[in-house]
Amino acid sequence: MAFFQWLEDTGLGVYMREDPWGFAIALSAHSIGMSMALGVVIVATLRALNVLRQIPLQAHAYLYPTAWAGFIVNLISGLALYVSHATEYSYQVVFMLKLGLIIAGGFLFKAMIDSARDFGDDAGKTKMMAALSLSCWILAIITGRLMAYF
Ligand code: HEM
Repeated sequence: MAFFQWLEDTGLGVYMREDPWGFAIALSAHSIGMSMALGVVIVATLRALNVLRQIPLQAHAYLYPTAWAGFIVNLISGLALYVSHATEYSYQVVFMLKLGLIIAGGFLFKAMIDSARDFGDDAGKTKMMAALSLSCWILAIITGRLMAYF
């Protein structure tokens, strides 16, 4: 608890809590990062689930750097948001759930790409990994939104 209190008392923690623009700008950056990361990830998983069949899954690889850039924006903006109320968020079940879903969603997305490479875009394993990854990311968005209410 002392460490989380120390985080809240840092210059960044105080700024994010007390400056009217601090939290708003970080949350806006968080939404932009999310749209970049999940815009690419969700379209690629939908392709693996037979939506937009004209575009081979492999072609989405050109967009993955954009998804990584969005994720880094979310990591930085998320940490800034987090230090503002670290003593609360660190004990928030819905936040821990969200972080778990983000990690699981990332690994399942990688497993989907590997399966498509090894067994093809239409293999059962590719589709299973895609469906599980998509579910994790949608639940990560829902739990992210619920953080403001719990
Ligand atoms: C791609 C990964 C991520 C996604 C999809 C995501 C999603 C979200 C969503 C949907 C919200 C609600 C936004 C709103 O209220 O308008 C949110 C808020 C938040 N996220 Fe994330 N997030 C991600 C990564 C992170 C990370 C890595 C952290 C911390 C280390 C984090 C910390 C937070 C915090 C503290 C809030 C503010 C909650 C509040 O309103 O009190 N997020 N996130």
